[in-house]
Amino acid sequence: MTEPDLNQLPAAFLKRLELLLDPPARAAWQRAAARLPMSVRWTGPPGQESRGADYLKEHGFDPHPIGWAPDAWTLPGAARRSVTGLDWVRSQQLFVQSASSMAAVQALGVQPGHDVLDLCAAPGAKTSLIHRRQEGRGILVANELSRARSRRLHALLSRLDITGVEILVGGGEHLGRSHARCFDRVLADVPCSGEGRFHLSDQATWSNWSESSIRGLSRRQTALLQSACHACRPGGEVLYATCTMAPEENEQVIDRVLSKADPHVELLPVDMDIPGRRPGLQSWGGVEFSNDLSHAVRIQANEIMTPFFMARLRKVGSV
Ligand SMILES: C[S@@+](CC[C@H](N)C(=O)[O-])C[C@H]1O[C@@H](n2cnc3c(N)ncnc32)[C@H](O)[C@@H]1O
Repeated sequence: MTEPDLNQLPAAFLKRLELLLDPPARAAWQRAAARLPMSVRWTGPPGQESRGADYLKEHGFDPHPIGWAPDAWTLPGAARRSVTGLDWVRSQQLFVQSASSMAAVQALGVQPGHDVLDLCAAPGAKTSLIHRRQEGRGILVANELSRARSRRLHALLSRLDITGVEILVGGGEHLGRSHARCFDRVLADVPCSGEGRFHLSDQATWSNWSESSIRGLSRRQTALLQSACHACRPGGEVLYATCTMAPEENEQVIDRVLSKADPHVELLPVDMDIPGRRPGLQSWGGVEFSNDLSHAVRIQANEIMTPFFMARLRKVGSV
């Protein structure tokens, strides 16, 4: 197989990549962009997770447990098609989900009984994991802007036999007002430029990338995060996540929301041992960020994780 050519990507993107990543991290990014790491989680009956690992071994895979996700495994070197073709994946006992996506839900810290809002929910991989972590107790509202994508969310929940999720269709920017202080946990997994999911042999994954679209996304993301914070109860937590490396969509969004203090939120550390983990940046493009951004988490690509960013915010006040 010939190595996909990195130079097909926009020159401005490659320049930013040089500023953001050192040479080994860039090489790891290129490897992940050529072949995305695979991972799966157990969606069969709770308490029977070991059956999933046994099944994967019987089918020639080498499942590695994920330390912070007791019901999930990475599959080093596995090709996507070999995993999606498995009977237990087709019958939804095993669910293909990136370790980065699972990490965001883990960092949200959902407990049984929590009321949760998933602000940008389709196609629903994280909604389904949140539902599992709630263990049947607590409200779950899943919001999505696009009606077509909300149908995919609905279909996924049906396939996984998940009931009781309230699906809303509309701009998440408005929920802070309509659902003010309603939730213990809010996931803001916002639309982003997706640099962590670029696939070198699929031009569609990066054809819309531009520095001007990053600026537009950054404004929208700030409005979504602020809405998420309003929808959160005092003392509750918001998890902001993207699958991009662009600081304008990551640290800069958090920094703006922290400094607006409307509502008042603070950044909390994320206590998870994740490979490729780095602290949030302290500055970018001449703009300095709050020192607290060191609590944010940047994940660099590696054999397990695709690049992503997350920040855990607590709404100041008591419930
Ligand atoms: C990163 S994806 C979410 C992935 C999803 N959380 C999952 O794990 O399956 C972002 C989603 O936000 C939706 N979206 C875009 N703008 C939005 C808005 N203003 N309000 C709510 N959702 C929005 C997009 O259509 C897209 O489905």
